[in-house]
Amino acid sequence: MTTTSSNPRTVSDTDAFWLREAERLDWTKAPTSASDVSWDASDLHIRWFADGALNASVQCLDRHLETRGDKTAILWVGDEPGVAKAITYAEAHEEVCRMASVLKARGVTRGDRVILYMPMVPEAAYAMLACARLGAVHSVVFGGFSPEALASRIEDCGATAVVTADEGRRGGKAIVLKKNVDAALTRNDAGRAVHTVLTVKVTGGEAAMQAGRDVWWHEEKAEASSDCPAEAVDAEDPLFILYTSGSTGKPKGVLHTTGGYMVYASYTHEKVFDLKEDDVYWCAADVGWITGHSYIVYGPLANGATTLMYEGVPTWPDASRMWKIVEEHGVTLLYTAPTAIRALMREGDAPVEKHDRSSLRVLGSVGEPINPEAWRWYHDVVGEGRCTVVDTWWQTETGGILISPLPGDPMTKPGAATKPMPGIEPALVDADGKVLEGEAEGNLVLTRSWPGQMRTVWGDHERFVQTYFTTYPGTYFTGDGARRDADGDYWITGRVDDVLNISGHRMGTAEVESALVAHDAVAEAAVVGFPHDLKGQGLWCYVILRAGLEPSAEIEKALRDQVRTEIGPVATPDVIQIAPGLPKTRSGKIMRRILRKIAEGAPDQLGDTSTLAEPEVVDQLVEGAARHR
Ligand code: WTA
Repeated sequence: MTTTSSNPRTVSDTDAFWLREAERLDWTKAPTSASDVSWDASDLHIRWFADGALNASVQCLDRHLETRGDKTAILWVGDEPGVAKAITYAEAHEEVCRMASVLKARGVTRGDRVILYMPMVPEAAYAMLACARLGAVHSVVFGGFSPEALASRIEDCGATAVVTADEGRRGGKAIVLKKNVDAALTRNDAGRAVHTVLTVKVTGGEAAMQAGRDVWWHEEKAEASSDCPAEAVDAEDPLFILYTSGSTGKPKGVLHTTGGYMVYASYTHEKVFDLKEDDVYWCAADVGWITGHSYIVYGPLANGATTLMYEGVPTWPDASRMWKIVEEHGVTLLYTAPTAIRALMREGDAPVEKHDRSSLRVLGSVGEPINPEAWRWYHDVVGEGRCTVVDTWWQTETGGILISPLPGDPMTKPGAATKPMPGIEPALVDADGKVLEGEAEGNLVLTRSWPGQMRTVWGDHERFVQTYFTTYPGTYFTGDGARRDADGDYWITGRVDDVLNISGHRMGTAEVESALVAHDAVAEAAVVGFPHDLKGQGLWCYVILRAGLEPSAEIEKALRDQVRTEIGPVATPDVIQIAPGLPKTRSGKIMRRILRKIAEGAPDQLGDTSTLAEPEVVDQLVEGAARHR
């Protein structure tokens, strides 16, 4: 399959190109070959740099000690204004070695899975790198997820240790973490294999310690050796698992391996941000998401950069917080999400203009399509028209940025992710898989592997094959739609499957539906996204109650709480519409297209409803929806 010829960043010999890029790492054993890949469903395998050996924590720490030992590796900025701490490469190295020693002494070894359930404190990065140092596989679970969600991830990956904190701080509030871990470990089988809960004291809040299992980091650390040799692992040894939502079923454990992922994170971080030695780089994501993995920890540290890690939220104590941080710390490269940009834009220009932003050079956007209005505000107001805006498109599955402007490009297209990174080969296909050439709109696929590509779904390779490689055989299907303009620039239009993007957080409609039907009052539920000014998309839940139950504010509240309990606050429904029925075809299939149009407030665009079993349901739904607007 060929890709569009209008891509000026085309690489002719991709294997040679990637093998050269691999030289950016310090390998224990340098690889002699690049890709060994088949996307054929009957024999699907993805291997990169397969005969190489390395350790990810060495890339991020040890190899910088000689030249950058005293350079700030992590510039940590606390939730509370005025609280900050600069940690040098030498200090970070020592902390990581000590934490690795503690985990090792507790029995964690190469290949073991370790769950990290952490706030945004340096210890979160130490824990990731400590696991990597031992060749153990970390799985970070976002601190906003519920005990239920945490338990299912602990069980799915068979974790034997957990690293957490007493509590986290965000926007002046305490977030209970240890208590959630304790609750998770009593669910089903989740606690069976867990021998260690290493707990970081962050707030000094309540934390019940179970003797034998639970240990305090500050106590263990004092005893631990600062000498912990790094395990050289194979390039294809797992580095981490990160759970993400798909269009069906439970979240899947996306597996990334060591060599290819590290090459790709380092490569993209350097190129997209045009990294210079004295940059102060701030990615405002959470380490619980892939953006935090690749662009707070692994990419920047592999590149010897100063990475700013912020504990709090963009809007606390007020809307000028981000710009205050930029001014105070001389941030040069900023990477954040459209949802944050929109929230701050709403507060006007004054909070931005209060602070000096002359240090800024590149402004990145990630996580969801950025609307042109937000793009312009970011560019004109935040960046004073002076900075490059890079709208970076990628996914948990891709490990790093695939399509993005690069500093130096002419910047004239607010909202376009523009061109693939050198080495990346996207294409657009129609519903039948026919490749579309030139100016076109269609489903976005990749036609060639790249080193950062996920390798499998943890414990379910078949699901990996089915999800990504069978829709358009021979390609990796992203689940996104895109448009390519006459210049060959890509504009991502959003998901074409049942995955939602709520404030940049990925969520499957199926996940929310199963949380709802787990409640006694619910007979059936269907969830769709609808346009939301701030969040990008909101959650609209159509719920059918069990016979005999009447709609009430109490039931609505109970259902909202139910979803928060099952998944977490990020999944809080915006609308619960209790409905008498759902639009179904005569074969019983829910017609989501209709539900989406109703939620959007476009009942005049329902299209053909003649195949519905009970067409009158639609009028009732339209009427009911009006009451929720
Ligand atoms: C969406 C986050 C438009 C897209 C890195 C993708 C974007 C999903 C952009 C992955 C962007 C991410 N423009 N859409 N610049 N970046 N997306 O796995 O729908 O949390 O498939 O990875 O976010 O979300 P995930």
